[in-house]
Amino acid sequence: MEHTPEKQKQYFQFAYQTGSDIWTHLPYRYKAEQMLPPMERDALVLDIGAGRGLWAAKLVGLGYRVLGIDYVQAIVEKVNMRIKEDGYTDRARFIVGNALEIPFVDNGFDMVTDIGTFQHLKHKEWPQYVTEMYRVIKKNGYFLKVSLSRRTTRFLGWVPGSTTNGDFTKFGVHYHFFTEEEIHNTFGEHFDIIDQQFETYNSQSDPDDNVTLVFTLMQKKNASI
Ligand SMILES: C[S@@+](CC[C@H](N)C(=O)[O-])C[C@H]1O[C@@H](n2cnc3c(N)ncnc32)[C@H](O)[C@@H]1O
Repeated sequence: MEHTPEKQKQYFQFAYQTGSDIWTHLPYRYKAEQMLPPMERDALVLDIGAGRGLWAAKLVGLGYRVLGIDYVQAIVEKVNMRIKEDGYTDRARFIVGNALEIPFVDNGFDMVTDIGTFQHLKHKEWPQYVTEMYRVIKKNGYFLKVSLSRRTTRFLGWVPGSTTNGDFTKFGVHYHFFTEEEIHNTFGEHFDIIDQQFETYNSQSDPDDNVTLVFTLMQKKNASI
């Protein structure tokens, strides 16, 4: 199936509707938490592509305030309802929005996190994404990005390391598997990479599949874009 942004959005919407959002169950949160930089309690974090809001809930549990954006309206509404039931609307809120046009003012966030969203953008969208991250993060603020790594040996029957560009399309969704060099080349001009780690997970649906994620913690450079 060919990739278009609309098909991709429908895929995510459908996955949340049917409970087939397997990414939600990858146990990445322990490693991501270990890599968090020191920040004041009450620091404001923006989570891009927040999905079911489980990472945001973890951040709230650590004492931070969280705004989440996702372009699937139905999941945003569901998560806002859940946090109302759980009684922490004063600590977290979710908003419908696009990672390429973040609906918030400049320099507003102590940290931005992106767990598994950037990997679904097309190469031509990368500069706009980097500009948006740089714009919304405060001076000396942080950016934690977790993405598919080119070190993955097999994913959905596909071998990322055997390709030159790391691109892959399945069910109308674009996936990109990153090399460390690509991350450096894409973000290095505007962010210092201060930590980078990898973790590999077995697939629950196919025992031959295993996915490696690259966790990159960056800090905003001072020079303006
Ligand atoms: C692989 S899921 C990860 C969800 C969540 N971060 C997690 O770890 O469970 C990617 C998420 O990004 C959202 N998304 C994809 N492209 C987006 C875009 N351009 N703007 C906002 N959200 C987007 C999808 O709706 C989906 O919820």
